[in-house]
Amino acid sequence: MAIQHELPSYLRPLETGPWGDYLEQIDRVTPHLGPLARWVETLKRPKRILIVDVPIERDDGTIAHFEGYRVQHNTSRGPGKGGVRFHQDVSLSEVMALAAWMTVKNAAVNVPYGGAKGGIRVNPKTLSHAEVQRMTRRYTSEINIIIGPNKDIPAPDVNTNEQIMAWMMDTYSMNQGSTASGVVTGKPISLGGSLGRHEATGRGVFVVGAEAVKRLGKDLKGMRIAVQGFGNVGGIAARLFSEAGAKIVAVQDHAATLINEAGLDIHALQNHVRHHGSIAGFAAEELKDQAAFWELDCDILIPAALEQQITPANAHKIRAKLIIEGANGPTVPAADDILHEKGVLIVPDVIANAGGVTVSYFEWVQDFSSFFWTEDEINQRLTRIMQEAFAAVWQLAEEKKVSLRTAAFIVGCTRVLRAREMRGLYP
Ligand SMILES: NC(=O)c1ccc[n+]([C@@H]2O[C@H](COP(=O)([O-])OP(=O)(O)OC[C@H]3O[C@@H](n4cnc5c(N)ncnc54)[C@H](O)[C@@H]3O)[C@@H](O)[C@H]2O)c1
Repeated sequence: MAIQHELPSYLRPLETGPWGDYLEQIDRVTPHLGPLARWVETLKRPKRILIVDVPIERDDGTIAHFEGYRVQHNTSRGPGKGGVRFHQDVSLSEVMALAAWMTVKNAAVNVPYGGAKGGIRVNPKTLSHAEVQRMTRRYTSEINIIIGPNKDIPAPDVNTNEQIMAWMMDTYSMNQGSTASGVVTGKPISLGGSLGRHEATGRGVFVVGAEAVKRLGKDLKGMRIAVQGFGNVGGIAARLFSEAGAKIVAVQDHAATLINEAGLDIHALQNHVRHHGSIAGFAAEELKDQAAFWELDCDILIPAALEQQITPANAHKIRAKLIIEGANGPTVPAADDILHEKGVLIVPDVIANAGGVTVSYFEWVQDFSSFFWTEDEINQRLTRIMQEAFAAVWQLAEEKKVSLRTAAFIVGCTRVLRAREMRGLYP
């Protein structure tokens, strides 16, 4: 029987959203936590939530208000760390879940951070460049009281990029009276950003994907891959897989779904997106029924857009044997069960997309020491961390006969709760 969760009064019991998915994942890991399960409630309650109003003057002189959030889910192992999302569907439940997945992820790959996340409920495509800048700066000022290089360090997520991070860093620094490059990661290289950060999440997806293929006894060359989301994560992962000899047979973004049995030209598609803002209009066959994307014949499926995409409504139609979660929370727990029954292997988000936060950690370390590493050093260290984390999770999954998701949660939650127990409760 499903556990009845006590929800904070600001969430509605019938609309738990992604936070409800996260709670269910915690229920699944709890029996494996041994005596640490005594502390599990700490994972079910975000440490701190800040909701802010973000008013801006539009270019036409009118005033617009947007909802902004920053959630620090857990800081037992270090300062909060997690991206900032600009999207029209951002909600408190979503930001809480994304912050919590950061807690588990940072612990699963053993970077010394807690979990946090932020966002503004806005479609930035409806704003001018100047309006996005004003909104970013006001949001940063509003959350200024809880972020900082030793407190909570934002980074890019959906619809945010190096430019947004530069504005956030500048705004925070202006408020402090001195340049604080370590307050955000994912900055432009010229402002203390790290080589390899832009590509890091996609590269991590590729590294663990290649490891999973190896363990399945298959060859990546010629494998047919479908990718949902062609932004920072999906676009770069697609490029690396195609460079390794796999065929990207389908790509879906917010505007279109493209298919090509012979493999799409990923370089040309990335160029198209740079100029047109989406894959729509690229010279390839278009699939008109967006939902049919999930039924496409392929070997590997990479959801790299948003959460709650793979649900009981489409899970049974999926033909891929391997799913690598580039996005956070793309598979709801009920769909996990269906895919497990079908023998589909899922490399979960908390491992698969941890490459971004891993190189964010490198960026933060480089900023503190003002000493910068080469791209080769960064990629080698990233690859090693991702391979070791994947191997540990794989081994635990085999030992305990659990899914890779549950194994990754066992590793992550154990580290967080052990830290909690060692620190004890204050006061
Ligand atoms: N950027 C990072 O470093 C990072 C790190 C870890 C995890 N993630 C996760 O990866 C996912 C993608 O993030 P990103 O940074 O690539 O964002 P992005 O803004 O660069 O790209 C998002 C992509 O998703 C597509 N998309 C949006 N809505 C869609 C829909 N309804 N259907 C199909 N496609 C849709 C967009 O068109 C775009 O191609 C998110 O879940 C994010 O939390 C990102």
